[in-house]
Amino acid sequence: MSWSTERLSDDERTLQETLRTTGRLPRHVAVIMDGNGRWAEHHGRPRIDGHREGMESVRDIVKTSSQTGVRFLTLYAFSMENWKRPVTEVNFLMSLLESYIEREIDELHDNGVRLRTIGKTSALPKSVRRILTNAIERTRDNEGLTLTLALSYGARWDLLQAMQMIALDVRRGKVSPEDLTEEMISQYLTTQGLPDPDFVIRTSGELRLSNFLLWESAYAEIYVTERLWPDFRRQDYYRALCDYARRERRFGKTSAQVAADGGKGAEGASDQRTLLDKILHAIR
Ligand code: IPE
Ligand code: IPE
Ligand code: MG
Repeated sequence: MSWSTERLSDDERTLQETLRTTGRLPRHVAVIMDGNGRWAEHHGRPRIDGHREGMESVRDIVKTSSQTGVRFLTLYAFSMENWKRPVTEVNFLMSLLESYIEREIDELHDNGVRLRTIGKTSALPKSVRRILTNAIERTRDNEGLTLTLALSYGARWDLLQAMQMIALDVRRGKVSPEDLTEEMISQYLTTQGLPDPDFVIRTSGELRLSNFLLWESAYAEIYVTERLWPDFRRQDYYRALCDYARRERRFGKTSAQVAADGGKGAEGASDQRTLLDKILHAIR
């Protein structure tokens, strides 16, 4: 099914269009998908049902990102620390991942999605690795949304392995310590090639990063919603994107400097914000 020709309500289409034309759409959105267990508990169901329902949110957010024009979407699907969970839950999550790729890969591919992973993927079961490798290979030349799954991912692990590689390259004489730059460090991380996330969303209300993209999120805008991941769907996503569009990213500068750099008058920006608010209200 083609996502770009899907029938959307006029309001939704206008909202997507406006988000795009404001130039205030984050290029890279990263999501800490949290709250599956609590969702299940609230519904009196086993935790795994929460993970299963969470997959429906994944489908919706991937599609909406692609339709709206977000270029990079990174989903924190399984952390290094999640290996400490009961083995039955870990096994279920692995099989869910397998079936997600199997079921979705054709549609992802048809819609130009390029799949990749970050994290210590060598720790994943062989069958999962095989499916992932095939899917990544198949979609490698696609030019639409880059969908990155963080699997067996921990930012400290990534930094540690990068430091080990850098130390080895120094020993081999390939790099000299005084020439090391921030860009070079980024090249050694499993996130290499991805732009830094502009926007980090965390669902379920927890106010922490849980070892996610610590280096890359240095200047990301953070958004936390109480919504549990299985309940987080496109309306919530639009709300988050509108919130992002309203923010001023200063990168250490003053507000006046940012306004001068941006070229857009404060008046135009506030008109756009009002428009976003209006449409968002309409599609609720
Ligand atoms: C997020 O939901 C999914 C993973 C971490 C794999 P949780 O399973 O952490 O849900 P809660 O936090 O227990 O509600
Ligand atoms: C973070 O969620 C990891 C993922 C969303 C995959 P957790 O539920 O594992 O985080 P903590 O342990 O509560 O910080
Ligand atoms: Mg959790």
